[in-house]
Amino acid sequence: MGATSRVTRLLLAAVLASAAVVAGLTQANADQENQQIVGGSRASIADHPYVVYLTTAEGFQFCGGTLVDDNKVITAAHCTAGKQPADVVVVAGREDKESGAGLASPVRQIWVHPEFTNVRSGNDVSVLTLTQRVQYAPLPLPSKDDADIYRAGQPGLVLGWGRVAADGQPSRYLLRAGVPIMADPDCTKSYPAYQPTTMVCAGLPQGGVDTCQGDSGGPLVVDGKLAGITSWGEGCAAPGKPGVYTRLAVYRDVLEDQV
Ligand code: ARG
Repeated sequence: MGATSRVTRLLLAAVLASAAVVAGLTQANADQENQQIVGGSRASIADHPYVVYLTTAEGFQFCGGTLVDDNKVITAAHCTAGKQPADVVVVAGREDKESGAGLASPVRQIWVHPEFTNVRSGNDVSVLTLTQRVQYAPLPLPSKDDADIYRAGQPGLVLGWGRVAADGQPSRYLLRAGVPIMADPDCTKSYPAYQPTTMVCAGLPQGGVDTCQGDSGGPLVVDGKLAGITSWGEGCAAPGKPGVYTRLAVYRDVLEDQV
């Protein structure tokens, strides 16, 4: 997604928006109990005050993020690479994209992991410094030896405003879903490019619940900590194709300097 130019994205948004009008009703009927993140449900921003979304200067939501301090947001490198601070606005405290709740903060500085090239090579982490301090409670970072949060089967929580199906439209409201941490060998079977040193997989073997386009940069929460950042996957919620998340604890030291 980082490689996608803004023009392409805007065109895509226009196409999706018109397709959504046609597909919206059909899909709402077909997916009645399965229409959120993918396979999730509505989440309250009051319960998850740390979750934010990123928009273009024109207000188009393209990624998620997590407040880890009162003026610091962690997101994915593929969300911010090649962008200038003026290209990104951080929206905090707003569950409904169409409401005026919370605040929209400009960005003062963008840090992208210096070794980031593309999502399948890891290091998909970025830190935004806001121009202002916000009052929403941040989410703690994991410590470097927080091995427990990456144990297979640990319950993970993902949040975002991304698409509700692989070919669906983005969500107007904040959505949440539960995805268990997957064992590294299982993820390697799904994706030969998977790197257990810098990534972690989460999802169900049979699929059905997952993050999707537009959720990137948002949090994977385990045990009340920011365990991962939504990074990549093939399709969304497909069987045998879990979501891949940045293994955040690995970056504790480098993030310490940025946060
Ligand atoms: N890369 C996507 C984005 O930019 C996130 C993809 C997550 N995919 C998945 N199947 N979990 O929003």
